[in-house]
Parts: sequence; structure tokens; C-alpha cells
Amino acid sequence: MSDPLLVVRDLHVTYRSSRGPVPAVRGVSLHLDRGETLGLAGESGSGKSSMAMALLRLVPVGTTITGSVTLAGEDVLAMKPGRLRAVRWAEAAVVFQGAQHVLNPVHRIRRQIQEAIDTHRGNGKVADLLEQVGIPRWRSDAYPHELSGGQKQRVMIAMALACDPELLIADEPTTALDVMVQAQVLQLLADLQRDRGLAMIFITHDLSVLSTVADRLAVMYAGRLVETGPAKEMLRGARHPYTKALAAAFPTIGDQSSRLAPSGLAGDPPDPMAVPSGCPFHPRCPIATEECAATMVELHEISPGWEAACLKL
Ligand SMILES: Nc1ncnc2c1ncn2[C@@H]1O[C@H](COP(=O)(O)OP(=O)(O)OP(=O)(O)O)[C@@H](O)[C@H]1O
Ligand SMILES: [Mg+2]
Repeated sequence: MSDPLLVVRDLHVTYRSSRGPVPAVRGVSLHLDRGETLGLAGESGSGKSSMAMALLRLVPVGTTITGSVTLAGEDVLAMKPGRLRAVRWAEAAVVFQGAQHVLNPVHRIRRQIQEAIDTHRGNGKVADLLEQVGIPRWRSDAYPHELSGGQKQRVMIAMALACDPELLIADEPTTALDVMVQAQVLQLLADLQRDRGLAMIFITHDLSVLSTVADRLAVMYAGRLVETGPAKEMLRGARHPYTKALAAAFPTIGDQSSRLAPSGLAGDPPDPMAVPSGCPFHPRCPIATEECAATMVELHEISPGWEAACLKL
């Protein structure tokens, strides 16, 4: 067996703010094999983007990152800036939520993709890249405003693939799209993942979208992982009370009627500067007892390849 592509150990990300330090990620450990897709889910503010961006040190100045991040055997947190810049495109690329807004409105998409290839010394060809993301070659002359939101997001995916990275970090790439287009872009990512052997971290607040793409899931709450395990089994029967509540809040893709009230997930996630004692989910947890408020639980194996951080499991 080869080593995992990515190994993260005890990652902490702390922002600097006028109110004081903001501990957005508080000890995350995970690994990702080559060609594997990890779905990272959790409510808004749970630290998903902070965690993912810290993997490539894409954080604001003044932010502290501790722990370790090893990508293809290299220590990312110790890399010199030049090496880091090269790694960011050639080995790991990012597609952001609403990333299409970074397309330059006055340049044809062909030119923008070519620039990404040239700047980062990729060897992809614009027309081939476009075709791979499902945009006909002749559309390469289009300006961004001539494309739909879904097509623009496809262009962003094509740019991310310009240097043939091994890892793609997709941070809510489909959230701004309508349900049909969302399903198409998800299918595209799943196909690319399979055809190119890409490893992917796919971030979403909606667990149900992960059934198309993820091999494994990781669920985040208040800057920590609360459950991680095989995607299919977890989507069928999550074990941690938080994952269960999150799954109930977003039952199935395309089912608009069920998206109304997030049943079983009353209250708000905690402010990172005022995280509850013990298990951070205990104030919202239907099965919490006094012990949960006093005891901080680490992730532990509940069945092979499946871990949860809950006293009751
Ligand atoms: N630059 C920053 N300075 C201070 N606090 C920040 C900064 N960026 C994010 N935070 C805080 O860190 C916490 C985690 O934010 P993050 O964006 O990682 O969450 P998320 O899980 O990606 O949420 P969403 O689903 O809304 O994208 C939040 O409380 C957020 O307000
Ligand atoms: Mg985010």
C-alpha cells in the first residue's frame, strides 16, 4: 500500500481579530488516499473552509496554523513561499464557492484559461480542458457574461485542472447553482475524479449532495471532526447525534419540500470564541447528559474505518 496523498494531524487554525484570537479549527486529523474523495460537511461557521484553505496556507495574514499537513510526503507548513506557490496549482488546486465571480468580464474564457496554464506552467490545452468539463470547444470565444452560472463554474474547474493536480479542493462548488445544474456539476466532478484519478475534498453544508461524489465523509462541528466513516453507510445511518440532525435537515437532493425546517437541529452553532465545555454539541444534542457538558470526547473507532466523538457511542 502506498502512503496517503494527504495526512493532516492535529490542525489548529486561529484567526486574528479585533475581539481577540478566533479558534476556527481546533484539532483536526484526517488522511486522504490518492484518487479518494472525502466529503466534508457541517453547518455554516463550523470551520470547513478554514480547515481546507489552511491545507494550502491560503489564510489571511496574522492567522496561526499549527499541527502538520503532509502532501505527497512534503511538509506544507514548512514550505518556502516559492515551493508553496508551485504546489498550489501543480499538486493541489481549489475551486471556491461562487468562484465564477473571479472570471474577468472583459476577456474571453479561452484567454483566461490560457493564462492559468502559462502562469502556472501547466501543459493542458484550452480546448481539451473545456471539452473535459463539458463545454463545447467553440464556446472558448465566449465572454463570461455569455455563459450560465453552471458553465462558469465548469470554466473554473477547467482552470483548476490546468496543471493536472493530484488533489482538488472543491469548497461548496455547487451551492450557488440551481438544483438541476448542481446535479450536473456534481456528476462532472465525479467523472473527472474517476477518469483522472483525482483525490478530492468536497465541502458542503448539505450532506445529501455527497452521495454522488464521496467515498468517505467527515463531519465538522465547532472546529472539530465529530464523525468520519464510509460515505454510503454514513448517509444511510449516521451514528453521531449531530450528523443525524444534519442529515435530517437536508434529506435528499432535489426534494425541495423537505428543505424547509431543519428538523432536529434547533438553535445555532457556537461562536468559535465561546465554544461550550465538554462536547461542544451538548447544548443542542437530544441525548446529552450532564457528563457530556463536562467531558471532551476525542474521535474513537465505533466500527472498522468509522469514528465518532460521542460519549454515548
Ligand atoms: N478572516 C477571519 N477572521 C476572523 N474570523 C474568521 C475569519 N474567517 C472565518 N472566520 C470565522 O471562523 C469560523 C469558521 O469559518 P469558516 O468560513 O471556516 O466556516 P465554514 O464551515 O466554511 O462555513 P460556511 O459553510 O458558511 O462556508 C466562523 O466563525 C467565521 O466567522
Ligand atoms: Mg465555507
